[in-house]
Amino acid sequence: MSVVRVRQHVNPLSEKYQAPVTTPDWDQVYANPQQPLHIDIGCGKGVFALAMAQLQPQWNFLGLEIRKPVVEAAQKRQQEAELTNLHFMFCNVNISLRALLESWGDQNPLQQVSIQFPDPWFKKRHQKRRVLQPDIVSTLAEFLPPGGRVVVQSDVEAVAMDMVERITENPHFQRQGTAWLPQSPFPAQTDRERASLEQGLAVHRAIFTRL
Ligand SMILES: C[S@@+](CC[C@H](N)C(=O)[O-])C[C@H]1O[C@@H](n2cnc3c(N)ncnc32)[C@H](O)[C@@H]1O
Repeated sequence: MSVVRVRQHVNPLSEKYQAPVTTPDWDQVYANPQQPLHIDIGCGKGVFALAMAQLQPQWNFLGLEIRKPVVEAAQKRQQEAELTNLHFMFCNVNISLRALLESWGDQNPLQQVSIQFPDPWFKKRHQKRRVLQPDIVSTLAEFLPPGGRVVVQSDVEAVAMDMVERITENPHFQRQGTAWLPQSPFPAQTDRERASLEQGLAVHRAIFTRL
């Protein structure tokens, strides 16, 4: 029996992750493409997006993930659950997010984005590998409507703080309050969130609204 080793991290700056994604025909992807769209950036195995799609059938969910074997497992689960409001894509968000959003044309239904427990890349020289770079924030500002939300969370306070600073730098977003939120705004947990809470770790959460 062959064992497929799934890497814990991949370097998003490496050559093999620079190819832009092929954008799908959204009419073929979702049963109702005009429902509000929630994008989960760095969705991992898709546990959160799958639970959300079951709990909130009036929304469409799109999970984006850079590790191919992980996203293939998520796609298999989506097919088994026969959910027509859920889709997973293998892509480097830093390369492909804009093209994905542009591909909706004037009918872009984006309303909500989550970035949950992103890879911390602690070393200073590796911080360019973090997913939430200023370009991503600008793209989200461009495609989210007023009132649209970005929710971030991490068990690593420095990483949560870094995300808060990146988004706060952009004048189109306003943070709700100034303290970490005690509860997730979502009715489902991510894998990492559940594991962190089980270990008694603090989870640092913030919500931003598009002005
Ligand atoms: C620590 S995991 C957390 C997964 C999930 N959000 C959770 O909370 O359980 C971070 C995920 O983000 C993915 N990721 C990191 N950089 C990415 C990028 N540039 N584009 C897409 N996915 C990325 C990683 O491959 C990994 O699966």
